[in-house]
Amino acid sequence: MQNSTKIITQHWNDINPLKIEDYLNVGGYKALHRFVKKMSPRQAIEEIKKSGLCGRGGAGYPTGQKLEMVGVSGATEKYFICNLDESEPGTYKDRMLVDYDPHLLIEGVIIVALSVGAYKAYIYINGNYKKQKDILEIALAQAREKNFWGAGILGSEYDLEIEIFSGAGAYICGEETALINSIEGNRGEPKLRPPYPTDAGLFGKPTAVNNAETIANIPWIISQGGEKYAKIGAACSPGTKLYILGGTVKNPGVVEAPTGITIRELIYDFGGGLPEGKDFWFAQIGGASGKLVVENELDIPLTFSRDCPIPLGSGAVLVVDKSVDIHDLILSWTGFFRRESCGKCVPCREGTFRLDEIAGRLKDGKISDRDKQAVYDILWTLNNTTFCPLGKFAATAFSDAISKLKILGD
Ligand SMILES: Cc1cc2nc3c(=O)[nH]c(=O)nc-3n(C[C@H](O)[C@H](O)[C@H](O)COP(=O)(O)O)c2cc1C
Ligand code: SF4
Repeated sequence: MQNSTKIITQHWNDINPLKIEDYLNVGGYKALHRFVKKMSPRQAIEEIKKSGLCGRGGAGYPTGQKLEMVGVSGATEKYFICNLDESEPGTYKDRMLVDYDPHLLIEGVIIVALSVGAYKAYIYINGNYKKQKDILEIALAQAREKNFWGAGILGSEYDLEIEIFSGAGAYICGEETALINSIEGNRGEPKLRPPYPTDAGLFGKPTAVNNAETIANIPWIISQGGEKYAKIGAACSPGTKLYILGGTVKNPGVVEAPTGITIRELIYDFGGGLPEGKDFWFAQIGGASGKLVVENELDIPLTFSRDCPIPLGSGAVLVVDKSVDIHDLILSWTGFFRRESCGKCVPCREGTFRLDEIAGRLKDGKISDRDKQAVYDILWTLNNTTFCPLGKFAATAFSDAISKLKILGD
């Protein structure tokens, strides 16, 4: 098993998340002090670039580069948004981050927002996550009391406002342009890119959007240095990752482990393997939008590199054993995407609907030869013609179930 540096979970369970003093006692907000007293915004971004940190929201975009694009903009109005929509099925790591150490996230939000020159930061949270919103409200009030955000932070000239924005709970609102639309009061559907949010984002102003887990790495990088961070995990996408183990494993839950770990290590070393009497069939990596891996692919190291054959996505690992009804599982995927398609483009609005109908007939044993032919057209269309990646997501697991699990026969 690889070494297990803890960056995000190091204080989980030994601090009271609702007490800022507990966080301060373990060195909390020291990174913010360091940033305010000893660094320029440009230096902070350089440090993040050196760390090699890349986005934990799924796409793995280099965080330092994104922040730099907003940081160098001369616009007087800029925004920073923490993405806490987290609606991918089987994924709950960002919520756990809030449950166990909300100040770590808040400290990261403040440092990143100030680094890019934003006066306003939003924490965009899925409206169903009331518990986490309540925790964040308490933690934010405590941090404001200590002058960690607000006017003249820690006696400096930095000012920052932070607002929690509750979305309506739509999966598509995790996509950054749909999220921006949602804060602007528009329908939660993606916008055409370019322009990218770093050029013209919230209210048309340069905006950096980062996933909550990505942001939670920032205090460590500012305190300990980017070079030290770059030595953890896989060289192509350094650091640790919160993996979410679910399905048929002995120890389900969130574990922090380095990037570059193999799927087998995750399932057997961290997850304890499958319970007695259960045989491994396949695993799904990255939630309902993720690919399927079978036994001979378990030694693939998980990274955010474009060369990694299995995208790590949100970090969810669902273990499926041979007793599971695959037709039910397929229906859960297709039903999800049919419900969550925002309807803006025809290939996804119709394609997810038709795929779900075919999955229903597959379950009922009524699938026709015509369905079998149509399914390839639908999957191709979802994969290649939709307006945003949700269409592709809807096709991924179904395509793998055909090619790797032979659900339609050979
Ligand atoms: C359909 C869809 C849903 C998404 N949901 C989320 C989400 O819940 N949380 C998130 O951080 N990123 C989500 N993303 C990715 C965001 O668009 C964006 O890339 C990310 O927030 C950037 O942060 P990062 O660079 O720190 O990963 C989603 C993307 C798509 C296409
Ligand atoms: S692919 Fe789906 S979710 Fe994305 S814009 Fe089209 S209809 Fe909306």
